[in-house]
Amino acid sequence: MRTKVIAANWKMYKTPDQTRDFFRDFLPLVSDHTRDEIVVCPPFLDLPAALESAKGSNVAVGAQNVHWKEEGAFTGETSVVQLVALGIHHVIIGHSERRQYFGETDDTVNLRLKTALEAGFTPICCVGEVLEEREAGATDDVLRRQCTRAFHSISAKKAAKLVVAYEPVWAIGTGKTATPEIAAEAHAVIRHEASRIFGEEFASNLRILYGGSVKPENASALMGQEEIDGALVGGASLDAKSFAAIVKY
Ligand code: 13P
Repeated sequence: MRTKVIAANWKMYKTPDQTRDFFRDFLPLVSDHTRDEIVVCPPFLDLPAALESAKGSNVAVGAQNVHWKEEGAFTGETSVVQLVALGIHHVIIGHSERRQYFGETDDTVNLRLKTALEAGFTPICCVGEVLEEREAGATDDVLRRQCTRAFHSISAKKAAKLVVAYEPVWAIGTGKTATPEIAAEAHAVIRHEASRIFGEEFASNLRILYGGSVKPENASALMGQEEIDGALVGGASLDAKSFAAIVKY
């Protein structure tokens, strides 16, 4: 049995005060929840407020990106050393918005992933096809390529804490959700690729989350699929009640 991960990706939303307000409302709603792991990934600026608010609770706090060097002249970047110093051990890597708008490539995803795993983090590595790729019937090839490159020269032992998120780009922020069946099919491709790269046992334990317009209304159908091991939630995670409803699908 794979423990599900229900993770929030706040993207570029909320101030530190709004972060504290969210946790004040959210924590009591999920305080008795032990079935799944809960992770909230706010913007970097909100991490101290989130950590302080979530202290001693069943909610982990994660970052939305990390650089592959420990330090250096990399304006605007954040290192694992800095995140560890705060007490962060979860990080989203290779989100499609970083790939689309900030020049993230399969190779930089690989560098970030290696560094995060080396530092003992639980990385949530995002993969997913754009609409044109799906319409061209290229989804499986895209997922295989993204996985092969992201996992390049990483051993199964090193990858033990890896979590993958399947986020079809056409379903992000659009209100269009992949049907549970479409998502499960893509997850099976990713699991097969993980099995080829890391071995069958590793793949059978690998948690693969679904992301893309997950809402309280569709969470239970998605989470009901055996292949789906949790959710990475954008818009619907910004509201305490709505994210709690997803956690408790
Ligand atoms: P939405 O839930 O807003 O579609 O965003 C999904 C996402 O990108 C999570 O990382």
